[in-house]
Amino acid sequence: MAKLWEGLVSGVMSEAADSFNASIKFDKRLLEEDIDGSIVHARMLGKQGIIEEAEAEKIASALLSLKEEVLSGALAVDETAEDVHTFVEQTLTARIGSLGKKLHTARSRNDQVALDMRLFARKTAGEVIELLTSLVSALADKAEEYKGAVMPGYTHLQRAQPITFGHHLCCYAYQFLRDRDRVKDAKKRLNLSPIGSAALAGTTYPIDRAFEAKSLGFDGVIPNSLDGVSDRDYLVELLSAFALISVHLSRLSEELVLWSSWEFKFIELSSDFTTGSSIMPQKKNPDIAELTRGKTGRVVGSLVAMLTMLKSLPLAYNKDMQEDKEIFFDAADTVIACLTVASPMIASLRAKTENMEKAAKEGYINATDLADYLTKKGVPFRESYKTAGAIVRAAAAKGVTLDEIPLSEYKAIDPLFGEDLYEAISLETCVNKRTSEGGSAVSEVEKQIVSIRKEIENV
Ligand code: ARG
Repeated sequence: MAKLWEGLVSGVMSEAADSFNASIKFDKRLLEEDIDGSIVHARMLGKQGIIEEAEAEKIASALLSLKEEVLSGALAVDETAEDVHTFVEQTLTARIGSLGKKLHTARSRNDQVALDMRLFARKTAGEVIELLTSLVSALADKAEEYKGAVMPGYTHLQRAQPITFGHHLCCYAYQFLRDRDRVKDAKKRLNLSPIGSAALAGTTYPIDRAFEAKSLGFDGVIPNSLDGVSDRDYLVELLSAFALISVHLSRLSEELVLWSSWEFKFIELSSDFTTGSSIMPQKKNPDIAELTRGKTGRVVGSLVAMLTMLKSLPLAYNKDMQEDKEIFFDAADTVIACLTVASPMIASLRAKTENMEKAAKEGYINATDLADYLTKKGVPFRESYKTAGAIVRAAAAKGVTLDEIPLSEYKAIDPLFGEDLYEAISLETCVNKRTSEGGSAVSEVEKQIVSIRKEIENV
Protein backbone atom coordinates (compact mmCIF):
# COMPACT_ATOMS: atom_id res chain seq x y z
CA MET A 1 0.00 0.00 0.00
CA ALA A 2 1.11 3.56 -0.64
CA LYS A 3 2.22 5.84 2.17
CA LEU A 4 -0.08 8.47 3.65
CA TRP A 5 2.74 10.98 3.76
CA GLU A 6 4.16 11.84 0.35
CA GLY A 7 5.06 15.52 0.75
CA LEU A 8 8.55 16.80 1.08
CA VAL A 9 9.64 13.17 1.06
CA SER A 10 8.82 10.79 -1.76
CA GLY A 11 7.08 8.06 0.18
CA VAL A 12 9.66 5.53 -0.99
CA MET A 13 11.93 3.90 1.56
CA SER A 14 14.47 1.13 1.38
CA GLU A 15 12.86 -2.24 1.95
CA ALA A 16 14.73 -2.76 5.22
CA ALA A 17 13.80 0.68 6.55
CA ASP A 18 10.21 0.22 5.45
CA SER A 19 9.80 -3.02 7.31
CA PHE A 20 11.65 -1.59 10.33
CA ASN A 21 9.31 1.39 10.39
CA ALA A 22 6.04 -0.45 9.81
CA SER A 23 3.77 -1.34 12.71
CA ILE A 24 0.92 -3.11 10.92
CA LYS A 25 2.02 -6.56 12.10
CA PHE A 26 1.18 -5.64 15.69
CA ASP A 27 -1.08 -2.57 15.51
CA LYS A 28 -3.63 -4.45 13.38
CA ARG A 29 -4.92 -5.46 16.80
CA LEU A 30 -6.22 -1.91 17.12
CA LEU A 31 -8.46 -2.19 14.06
CA GLU A 32 -11.70 -2.18 16.03
CA GLU A 33 -10.67 0.79 18.16
CA ASP A 34 -9.34 2.61 15.10
CA ILE A 35 -12.59 2.18 13.20
CA ASP A 36 -14.80 3.03 16.19
CA GLY A 37 -12.80 6.24 16.64
CA SER A 38 -12.99 7.06 12.93
CA ILE A 39 -16.75 6.58 12.80
CA VAL A 40 -17.20 9.04 15.65
CA HIS A 41 -14.70 11.42 14.04
CA ALA A 42 -16.62 11.33 10.74
CA ARG A 43 -19.91 12.02 12.54
CA MET A 44 -18.35 14.91 14.44
CA LEU A 45 -17.08 16.39 11.16
CA GLY A 46 -20.60 16.06 9.73
CA LYS A 47 -22.30 17.53 12.81
CA GLN A 48 -19.94 20.52 12.77
CA GLY A 49 -20.49 21.14 9.07
CA ILE A 50 -16.84 20.47 8.28
CA ILE A 51 -18.06 17.84 5.82
CA GLU A 52 -21.65 17.17 4.70
CA GLU A 53 -23.70 15.07 7.15
CA ALA A 54 -24.60 12.69 4.32
CA GLU A 55 -20.92 12.29 3.54
CA ALA A 56 -20.24 11.53 7.18
CA GLU A 57 -22.90 8.83 7.22
CA LYS A 58 -21.55 7.28 4.04
CA ILE A 59 -18.06 7.15 5.56
CA ALA A 60 -19.41 5.74 8.83
CA SER A 61 -21.38 2.96 7.18
CA ALA A 62 -18.46 1.99 4.92
CA LEU A 63 -16.22 1.86 7.99
CA LEU A 64 -18.71 -0.29 9.81
CA SER A 65 -18.83 -2.87 7.00
CA LEU A 66 -15.06 -2.81 6.79
CA LYS A 67 -14.85 -3.59 10.50
CA GLU A 68 -17.40 -6.39 10.29
CA GLU A 69 -15.63 -7.94 7.32
CA VAL A 70 -12.27 -7.96 9.04
CA LEU A 71 -13.72 -9.29 12.28
CA SER A 72 -15.62 -12.06 10.50
CA GLY A 73 -12.51 -13.02 8.56
CA ALA A 74 -14.05 -12.08 5.19
CA LEU A 75 -11.38 -9.41 4.66
CA ALA A 76 -7.72 -9.88 5.54
CA VAL A 77 -5.63 -6.98 6.79
CA ASP A 78 -3.13 -6.03 4.08
CA GLU A 79 0.21 -6.19 5.81
CA THR A 80 1.95 -4.15 3.12
CA ALA A 81 0.30 -1.09 4.71
CA GLU A 82 2.53 0.91 7.04
CA ASP A 83 0.09 0.73 9.93
CA VAL A 84 -3.54 0.02 10.77
CA HIS A 85 -4.52 3.66 10.15
CA THR A 86 -3.13 3.50 6.62
CA PHE A 87 -4.88 0.20 5.96
CA VAL A 88 -8.27 1.49 7.13
CA GLU A 89 -8.09 4.82 5.29
CA GLN A 90 -6.84 3.37 2.03
CA THR A 91 -9.31 0.47 2.03
CA LEU A 92 -12.09 2.96 2.73
CA THR A 93 -10.94 5.20 -0.11
CA ALA A 94 -10.69 2.24 -2.47
CA ARG A 95 -14.34 1.53 -1.67
CA ILE A 96 -16.02 4.95 -1.59
CA GLY A 97 -13.59 6.95 -3.65
CA SER A 98 -12.18 10.33 -2.78
CA LEU A 99 -14.79 10.86 -0.05
CA GLY A 100 -12.65 8.49 2.02
CA LYS A 101 -9.89 11.05 1.86
CA LYS A 102 -12.03 13.54 3.80
CA LEU A 103 -11.98 11.39 6.93
CA HIS A 104 -8.57 12.56 8.02
CA THR A 105 -9.66 16.22 8.17
CA ALA A 106 -8.82 17.88 11.51
CA ARG A 107 -6.87 14.97 12.87
CA SER A 108 -3.45 13.35 12.71
CA ARG A 109 -2.27 9.81 13.19
CA ASN A 110 -0.76 11.13 16.41
CA ASP A 111 -4.08 11.76 18.14
CA GLN A 112 -5.63 8.84 16.28
CA VAL A 113 -3.14 6.33 17.68
CA ALA A 114 -3.34 7.96 21.12
CA LEU A 115 -7.10 7.41 21.00
CA ASP A 116 -6.78 3.80 19.82
CA MET A 117 -4.38 2.96 22.63
CA ARG A 118 -6.59 4.53 25.29
CA LEU A 119 -9.60 2.59 24.06
CA PHE A 120 -7.56 -0.61 23.98
CA ALA A 121 -6.11 0.03 27.44
CA ARG A 122 -9.58 0.71 28.84
CA LYS A 123 -10.90 -2.57 27.42
CA THR A 124 -7.89 -4.48 28.75
CA ALA A 125 -8.29 -2.93 32.21
CA GLY A 126 -11.92 -4.09 32.24
CA GLU A 127 -10.88 -7.65 31.37
CA VAL A 128 -8.19 -7.71 34.05
CA ILE A 129 -10.63 -6.38 36.67
CA GLU A 130 -13.06 -9.17 35.82
CA LEU A 131 -10.40 -11.86 36.01
CA LEU A 132 -9.13 -10.53 39.34
CA THR A 133 -12.67 -10.64 40.67
CA SER A 134 -12.97 -14.33 39.77
CA LEU A 135 -9.61 -15.11 41.32
CA VAL A 136 -10.46 -13.35 44.57
CA SER A 137 -13.77 -15.13 44.70
CA ALA A 138 -12.07 -18.53 44.14
CA LEU A 139 -9.64 -17.70 46.96
CA ALA A 140 -12.48 -16.69 49.30
CA ASP A 141 -14.37 -19.92 48.57
CA LYS A 142 -11.24 -22.01 49.24
CA ALA A 143 -10.57 -20.04 52.42
CA GLU A 144 -14.09 -20.80 53.59
CA GLU A 145 -13.61 -24.50 52.86
CA TYR A 146 -10.37 -24.61 54.87
CA LYS A 147 -10.93 -21.94 57.50
CA GLY A 148 -10.37 -24.53 60.25
CA ALA A 149 -7.48 -26.46 58.61
CA VAL A 150 -4.48 -25.89 60.87
CA MET A 151 -1.11 -25.55 59.15
CA PRO A 152 2.22 -24.04 60.11
CA GLY A 153 2.58 -20.35 59.34
CA TYR A 154 6.13 -19.54 58.26
CA THR A 155 8.68 -16.79 58.54
CA HIS A 156 12.03 -17.33 56.80
CA LEU A 157 10.35 -20.53 55.56
CA GLN A 158 10.80 -21.85 59.11
CA ARG A 159 7.72 -23.04 60.96
CA ALA A 160 6.67 -20.08 63.09
CA GLN A 161 3.14 -20.15 64.52
CA PRO A 162 0.04 -22.15 63.70
CA ILE A 163 -2.46 -20.59 61.32
CA THR A 164 -5.13 -22.06 59.10
CA PHE A 165 -5.01 -22.63 55.37
CA GLY A 166 -8.04 -20.36 55.14
CA HIS A 167 -6.18 -17.56 56.90
CA HIS A 168 -3.25 -17.97 54.48
CA LEU A 169 -5.51 -17.87 51.40
CA CYS A 170 -7.31 -14.74 52.64
CA CYS A 171 -3.95 -12.96 52.58
CA TYR A 172 -3.70 -13.51 48.81
CA ALA A 173 -7.31 -12.49 48.33
CA TYR A 174 -6.55 -9.10 49.91
CA GLN A 175 -3.45 -8.66 47.74
CA PHE A 176 -5.44 -9.27 44.56
CA LEU A 177 -8.22 -6.98 45.77
CA ARG A 178 -5.68 -4.18 46.09
CA ASP A 179 -4.39 -5.01 42.61
CA ARG A 180 -7.92 -4.72 41.33
CA ASP A 181 -8.21 -1.31 43.02
CA ARG A 182 -5.03 -0.17 41.31
CA VAL A 183 -6.35 -1.21 37.89
CA LYS A 184 -9.71 0.43 38.62
CA ASP A 185 -7.95 3.60 39.65
CA ALA A 186 -5.74 3.67 36.55
CA LYS A 187 -8.80 2.99 34.40
CA LYS A 188 -10.57 5.99 35.87
CA ARG A 189 -7.60 8.27 35.22
CA LEU A 190 -7.03 7.08 31.65
CA ASN A 191 -10.60 7.65 30.61
CA LEU A 192 -10.08 11.04 28.93
CA SER A 193 -10.12 11.59 25.20
CA PRO A 194 -7.04 12.72 23.29
CA ILE A 195 -8.79 13.03 19.92
CA GLY A 196 -8.82 16.61 18.68
CA SER A 197 -5.24 17.18 19.81
CA ALA A 198 -4.43 16.64 16.11
CA ALA A 199 -0.68 16.47 15.41
CA LEU A 200 0.19 18.37 18.60
CA ALA A 201 -1.24 21.88 18.49
CA GLY A 202 -4.96 21.34 17.95
CA THR A 203 -6.67 22.42 14.74
CA THR A 204 -8.15 25.42 12.96
CA TYR A 205 -11.37 23.50 12.20
CA PRO A 206 -14.39 24.06 14.49
CA ILE A 207 -14.27 20.55 15.99
CA ASP A 208 -16.29 19.33 18.96
CA ARG A 209 -13.96 17.38 21.21
CA ALA A 210 -16.57 16.90 23.92
CA PHE A 211 -18.92 15.23 21.44
CA GLU A 212 -16.25 12.75 20.36
CA ALA A 213 -15.27 12.06 23.97
CA LYS A 214 -18.85 11.41 25.02
CA SER A 215 -19.62 9.22 22.01
CA LEU A 216 -16.64 7.03 22.84
CA GLY A 217 -17.52 6.67 26.53
CA PHE A 218 -14.85 9.00 27.90
CA ASP A 219 -15.42 11.12 31.00
CA GLY A 220 -14.00 14.22 29.31
CA VAL A 221 -11.15 15.47 27.13
CA ILE A 222 -7.45 15.82 27.83
CA PRO A 223 -7.15 19.58 28.36
CA ASN A 224 -3.79 20.12 26.63
CA SER A 225 -3.27 19.04 23.03
CA LEU A 226 0.45 18.33 23.48
CA ASP A 227 -0.33 16.19 26.49
CA GLY A 228 -2.97 14.33 24.50
CA VAL A 229 -0.45 13.04 21.97
CA SER A 230 2.73 12.77 23.97
CA ASP A 231 2.15 10.81 27.13
CA ARG A 232 1.72 7.12 27.76
CA ASP A 233 1.66 7.45 31.54
CA TYR A 234 -1.66 5.59 31.69
CA LEU A 235 0.06 2.59 30.13
CA VAL A 236 2.83 2.86 32.72
CA GLU A 237 0.22 2.89 35.48
CA LEU A 238 -1.50 -0.18 34.12
CA LEU A 239 1.80 -1.95 33.55
CA SER A 240 2.80 -1.19 37.10
CA ALA A 241 -0.45 -2.74 38.34
CA PHE A 242 0.14 -5.70 36.00
CA ALA A 243 3.67 -6.11 37.34
CA LEU A 244 2.33 -6.29 40.88
CA ILE A 245 -0.36 -8.76 39.87
CA SER A 246 2.40 -10.90 38.36
CA VAL A 247 4.51 -10.63 41.49
CA HIS A 248 1.57 -11.67 43.65
CA LEU A 249 0.74 -14.51 41.27
CA SER A 250 4.35 -15.55 41.34
CA ARG A 251 4.43 -15.75 45.14
CA LEU A 252 1.23 -17.77 45.16
CA SER A 253 2.58 -20.02 42.40
CA GLU A 254 5.79 -20.59 44.31
CA GLU A 255 3.76 -21.75 47.29
CA LEU A 256 1.63 -24.02 45.12
CA VAL A 257 4.84 -25.57 43.78
CA LEU A 258 6.27 -26.01 47.28
CA TRP A 259 3.06 -27.27 48.82
CA SER A 260 2.51 -29.86 46.10
CA SER A 261 6.06 -31.22 46.47
CA TRP A 262 6.73 -34.55 48.19
CA GLU A 263 8.56 -32.62 50.88
CA PHE A 264 5.45 -30.66 51.91
CA LYS A 265 2.48 -32.67 50.56
CA PHE A 266 0.11 -29.95 51.74
CA ILE A 267 -2.01 -29.82 48.61
CA GLU A 268 -2.87 -31.74 45.53
CA LEU A 269 -3.36 -29.74 42.36
CA SER A 270 -6.02 -30.97 39.97
CA SER A 271 -4.59 -32.97 37.09
CA ASP A 272 -6.13 -30.30 34.84
CA PHE A 273 -3.25 -28.06 35.93
CA THR A 274 -0.34 -30.49 36.12
CA THR A 275 1.67 -32.51 33.62
CA GLY A 276 3.45 -35.83 33.68
CA SER A 277 7.02 -36.60 32.75
CA SER A 278 7.99 -38.37 29.55
CA ILE A 279 10.52 -40.47 31.43
CA MET A 280 9.47 -40.60 35.12
CA PRO A 281 5.98 -42.10 35.38
CA GLN A 282 5.54 -41.10 39.04
CA LYS A 283 5.75 -37.34 38.30
CA LYS A 284 2.94 -34.83 38.65
CA ASN A 285 4.54 -31.55 37.73
CA PRO A 286 2.98 -28.19 38.65
CA ASP A 287 3.82 -26.70 35.22
CA ILE A 288 1.02 -24.15 35.19
CA ALA A 289 2.10 -22.66 38.52
CA GLU A 290 5.74 -22.73 37.45
CA LEU A 291 5.03 -21.04 34.13
CA THR A 292 2.98 -18.38 35.88
CA ARG A 293 5.94 -17.77 38.18
CA GLY A 294 8.26 -17.71 35.16
CA LYS A 295 6.22 -15.20 33.18
CA THR A 296 6.57 -12.56 35.89
CA GLY A 297 9.85 -11.42 34.40
CA ARG A 298 8.14 -10.60 31.10
CA VAL A 299 5.59 -8.34 32.78
CA VAL A 300 8.06 -6.61 35.08
CA GLY A 301 10.30 -6.19 32.02
CA SER A 302 7.45 -4.55 30.10
CA LEU A 303 7.05 -1.94 32.82
CA VAL A 304 10.75 -1.15 32.71
CA ALA A 305 10.74 -1.11 28.90
CA MET A 306 7.85 1.36 28.78
CA LEU A 307 9.40 3.69 31.35
CA THR A 308 12.72 3.58 29.54
CA MET A 309 11.09 4.25 26.18
CA LEU A 310 9.39 7.37 27.56
CA LYS A 311 12.39 8.65 29.47
CA SER A 312 13.98 11.77 27.90
CA LEU A 313 11.48 12.02 25.03
CA PRO A 314 11.02 15.66 24.05
CA LEU A 315 7.44 16.80 23.55
CA ALA A 316 5.31 16.01 21.68
CA TYR A 317 4.99 12.84 19.51
CA ASN A 318 8.10 10.83 18.69
CA LYS A 319 8.24 7.60 16.76
CA ASP A 320 9.76 5.91 19.80
CA MET A 321 6.20 5.79 21.10
CA GLN A 322 5.23 3.21 18.51
CA GLU A 323 7.08 0.81 20.81
CA ASP A 324 4.30 1.19 23.40
CA LYS A 325 2.19 -1.34 21.54
CA GLU A 326 4.24 -4.52 21.57
CA ILE A 327 5.26 -3.79 25.15
CA PHE A 328 1.71 -3.28 26.36
CA PHE A 329 0.14 -6.05 24.28
CA ASP A 330 2.63 -8.60 25.53
CA ALA A 331 2.19 -7.68 29.19
CA ALA A 332 -1.61 -7.57 28.88
CA ASP A 333 -1.75 -10.94 27.09
CA THR A 334 0.56 -12.47 29.67
CA VAL A 335 -1.33 -11.21 32.71
CA ILE A 336 -4.67 -12.17 31.20
CA ALA A 337 -3.38 -15.67 30.39
CA CYS A 338 -1.99 -16.13 33.91
CA LEU A 339 -5.17 -14.93 35.61
CA THR A 340 -7.31 -17.09 33.35
CA VAL A 341 -5.63 -20.27 34.60
CA ALA A 342 -5.13 -19.11 38.18
CA SER A 343 -8.80 -19.06 39.28
CA PRO A 344 -9.71 -22.61 38.21
CA MET A 345 -6.37 -23.89 39.49
CA ILE A 346 -7.21 -22.49 42.95
CA ALA A 347 -10.83 -23.62 42.78
CA SER A 348 -9.82 -27.20 41.98
CA LEU A 349 -6.97 -27.70 44.45
CA ARG A 350 -7.44 -30.02 47.39
CA ALA A 351 -5.67 -29.53 50.71
CA LYS A 352 -4.19 -32.52 52.50
CA THR A 353 -5.22 -31.26 55.90
CA GLU A 354 -3.78 -34.26 57.80
CA ASN A 355 -0.28 -33.42 56.48
CA MET A 356 -0.69 -29.74 57.28
CA GLU A 357 -1.70 -30.60 60.82
CA LYS A 358 1.16 -33.09 61.20
CA ALA A 359 3.65 -30.43 60.10
CA ALA A 360 2.06 -27.96 62.50
CA LYS A 361 2.49 -30.43 65.37
CA GLU A 362 6.14 -31.04 64.65
CA GLY A 363 7.71 -27.63 64.58
CA TYR A 364 7.31 -26.40 68.20
CA ILE A 365 5.17 -23.68 66.71
CA ASN A 366 3.25 -23.44 70.00
CA ALA A 367 6.42 -22.25 71.80
CA THR A 368 5.17 -18.63 71.81
CA ASP A 369 1.99 -19.84 73.48
CA LEU A 370 4.01 -21.76 76.06
CA ALA A 371 5.80 -18.51 76.92
CA ASP A 372 2.50 -16.61 76.89
CA TYR A 373 1.10 -19.16 79.38
CA LEU A 374 3.65 -18.12 81.98
CA THR A 375 3.34 -14.45 81.07
CA LYS A 376 -0.39 -14.60 81.72
CA LYS A 377 0.48 -15.97 85.20
CA GLY A 378 2.60 -12.90 85.95
CA VAL A 379 6.07 -13.87 84.65
CA PRO A 380 7.64 -11.05 82.58
CA PHE A 381 7.59 -12.06 78.88
CA ARG A 382 11.37 -11.93 78.45
CA GLU A 383 11.76 -14.45 81.29
CA SER A 384 9.00 -16.77 80.12
CA TYR A 385 10.47 -16.57 76.61
CA LYS A 386 13.78 -17.92 78.04
CA THR A 387 12.06 -20.69 79.99
CA ALA A 388 10.04 -21.74 76.92
CA GLY A 389 13.24 -21.70 74.85
CA ALA A 390 14.99 -24.03 77.29
CA ILE A 391 11.98 -26.39 77.30
CA VAL A 392 11.93 -26.48 73.48
CA ARG A 393 15.67 -27.25 73.39
CA ALA A 394 15.25 -30.11 75.84
CA ALA A 395 12.19 -31.45 74.01
CA ALA A 396 13.97 -31.31 70.66
CA ALA A 397 16.93 -33.20 72.12
CA LYS A 398 14.55 -35.94 73.28
CA GLY A 399 12.51 -35.87 70.09
CA VAL A 400 9.19 -35.17 71.84
CA THR A 401 6.55 -32.50 71.26
CA LEU A 402 5.64 -29.99 73.98
CA ASP A 403 2.40 -31.74 74.81
CA GLU A 404 4.24 -35.04 75.33
CA ILE A 405 6.24 -33.68 78.29
CA PRO A 406 4.58 -34.74 81.59
CA LEU A 407 3.26 -32.06 83.93
CA SER A 408 5.68 -33.15 86.68
CA GLU A 409 8.59 -32.08 84.45
CA TYR A 410 6.94 -28.76 83.71
CA LYS A 411 6.30 -28.18 87.40
CA ALA A 412 9.93 -28.93 88.19
CA ILE A 413 10.90 -26.08 85.85
CA ASP A 414 8.27 -23.67 87.16
CA PRO A 415 5.56 -24.48 89.71
CA LEU A 416 3.23 -22.04 87.92
CA PHE A 417 2.62 -24.73 85.27
CA GLY A 418 -0.72 -26.44 85.85
CA GLU A 419 -3.04 -28.98 84.20
CA ASP A 420 -4.56 -26.24 82.01
CA LEU A 421 -1.22 -25.94 80.16
CA TYR A 422 -2.03 -28.71 77.67
CA GLU A 423 -5.22 -26.98 76.58
CA ALA A 424 -3.34 -23.66 76.34
CA ILE A 425 -0.70 -25.04 73.97
CA SER A 426 -2.94 -27.24 71.82
CA LEU A 427 -2.79 -26.17 68.18
CA GLU A 428 -6.51 -25.45 68.07
CA THR A 429 -6.17 -23.12 71.05
CA CYS A 430 -3.11 -21.41 69.54
CA VAL A 431 -5.06 -20.70 66.37
CA ASN A 432 -8.38 -19.83 67.91
CA LYS A 433 -7.11 -17.65 70.73
CA ARG A 434 -5.56 -15.31 68.17
CA THR A 435 -8.72 -13.29 68.02
CA SER A 436 -6.97 -9.97 67.52
CA GLU A 437 -8.36 -8.23 64.43
CA GLY A 438 -7.04 -9.98 61.31
CA GLY A 439 -5.70 -12.90 63.34
CA SER A 440 -5.82 -16.64 62.68
CA ALA A 441 -8.86 -17.53 64.83
CA VAL A 442 -11.62 -19.12 62.78
CA SER A 443 -13.95 -16.38 64.00
CA GLU A 444 -11.54 -13.74 62.61
CA VAL A 445 -10.99 -15.58 59.32
CA GLU A 446 -14.75 -15.73 58.91
CA LYS A 447 -14.88 -11.94 59.25
CA GLN A 448 -12.12 -11.63 56.68
CA ILE A 449 -14.02 -13.81 54.23
CA VAL A 450 -17.13 -11.66 54.71
CA SER A 451 -15.13 -8.47 54.08
CA ILE A 452 -13.47 -9.97 50.98
CA ARG A 453 -16.82 -11.02 49.56
CA LYS A 454 -18.26 -7.59 50.25
CA GLU A 455 -15.32 -5.99 48.46
CA ILE A 456 -15.77 -8.38 45.49
CA GLU A 457 -19.23 -6.91 44.92
CA ASN A 458 -17.81 -3.41 44.92
CA VAL A 459 -16.62 -3.45 41.27
N1 ARG B 1 2.33 3.72 14.00
C1 ARG B 1 2.46 4.96 14.65
C2 ARG B 1 2.54 4.76 16.17
O1 ARG B 1 2.16 3.74 16.60
C3 ARG B 1 1.28 5.82 14.36
C4 ARG B 1 1.53 7.27 14.54
C5 ARG B 1 2.40 7.75 13.46
N2 ARG B 1 2.61 9.16 13.54
C6 ARG B 1 3.65 9.75 12.93
N3 ARG B 1 3.75 11.01 13.09
N4 ARG B 1 4.49 9.07 12.20
O2 ARG B 1 3.02 5.59 16.90
